[in-house]
Amino acid sequence: MFLVRLIYTSQVTGEFSKDDIEQIISSAKENNRRAGITGLLCFNRKYFLQVLEGTRTQVNALYHHILQDSRHTQVILLSYHEITQREFDQWHMAYVPEAGLRSEVCQRYSGSKEFNPLLMLGDSCLKLLLELRGAVPQATL
Ligand SMILES: Cc1cc2nc3c(=O)[nH]c(=O)nc-3n(C[C@H](O)[C@H](O)[C@H](O)COP(=O)(O)O)c2cc1C
Repeated sequence: MFLVRLIYTSQVTGEFSKDDIEQIISSAKENNRRAGITGLLCFNRKYFLQVLEGTRTQVNALYHHILQDSRHTQVILLSYHEITQREFDQWHMAYVPEAGLRSEVCQRYSGSKEFNPLLMLGDSCLKLLLELRGAVPQATL
C-alpha cells in the first residue's frame, strides 16, 4: 500500500453560497471516511486549495472525480508525493474559510496579502496548509 499526498488549486466557476461549500464539505467527509482519505480544503470565494492524503489508488480516483466537478475550473496540480505518514490525519476533510486565511500568513508564503495559490510554489502551499492546520478544531473525523 503506497501513501501519497496531493495538493491542487482551482477557481470557483460561479457564485458560491455558504450552503454550497457546506454541501461539498459534508459529502467530502462522508466519502473520504469510506475511502480512507484525509486532508484540508481552503476557500476564499475565488480560489480553492486542497490537500488530499491516502492510498495512491484512492487519492488518484478522488482527484479524477474532483477534476470533473463543474463547480470549479482551471485545476492546477501543485504537488504530488509519496509519503510515509499523514500530516492531516485528524480530519477526513478539514475546512478553512476565508476568515482563516489571514493576510499576514498569505504574505509569508506567497509574498501577497491576498490568498492566491497560483503565486505559491507547491512546497510553500504545503507549508501554508500545515500552518493553517493548527487553527482547525481537532477530532472532526
Ligand atoms: C473544490 C472541491 C473539493 C472537493 N473535495 C472533495 C473531497 O475531498 N471528497 C469528495 O468525496 N468529494 C469532493 N468534492 C466533490 C466531488 O467533486 C463530487 O461532487 C462528490 O465526490 C460526489 O459525491 P457523491 O457521489 O456523494 O454525490 C469536491 C468538490 C470541489 C469543487
